[in-house]
Amino acid sequence: MRLPFVSRRREYIIERLRRDDAAEVARLHREDFSRPWSAAEFGGLIDQATVFGFVAREVGHRHAIAGFVLARLAVDEAEILTVAVARAHRREGLGRELMDAVLRQLHADRASHLILEVDETNTPALALYRRLAFREIARRRNYYEHAGGASTGALVMRRDLR
Ligand SMILES: CC(C)(COP(=O)(O)OP(=O)(O)OC[C@H]1O[C@@H](n2cnc3c(N)ncnc32)[C@H](O)[C@@H]1OP(=O)(O)O)[C@@H](O)C(=O)NCCC(=O)NCCS
Repeated sequence: MRLPFVSRRREYIIERLRRDDAAEVARLHREDFSRPWSAAEFGGLIDQATVFGFVAREVGHRHAIAGFVLARLAVDEAEILTVAVARAHRREGLGRELMDAVLRQLHADRASHLILEVDETNTPALALYRRLAFREIARRRNYYEHAGGASTGALVMRRDLR
């Protein structure tokens, strides 16, 4: 799937995540997550039949990956494994486009619902998910441990698809 769209400033395409993208998405993931996944871990996930994802590429600029999402669909239950947009490309609608691509795929596959887990202090992600009609279904206290010993809770969110 190639879905061209123009954000406020730049032009992007949304494409299927491929095995070849593992190193580039691992680099992007490292920018934001205290426990980054390696290129090998991403490659292993992408190889799984139940796992799929999308990348947003900036048109021109060697089509560099500006954001990606990885999801898993097992029988009819889906989960977001991770989603990230490079800092320089945030608030241009990429997070929303990537999540919409996953939702379209899941509708086509007749999935029943989509689950995700998010740090309760992650304001941008919470705003994105609430905007996409996810609702909280559980809260896990002291779930994420941060450098220096602090910890924050996780929210489990769900979006029904039928
Ligand atoms: C969460 C994340 C993926 C959002 O990506 P993005 O491309 O900036 O999001 P979008 O531009 O598509 O924003 C869609 C909507 O989400 C909300 N939103 C996104 N960022 C926000 C912010 N910083 N503050 C408030 N609302 C925000 C807004 O409602 C926004 O719509 P609007 O711009 O029309 O107001 C991005 O901030 C990111 O990569 N964060 C680091 C990784 C991460 O936390 N991933 C989630 C782990 S669960």
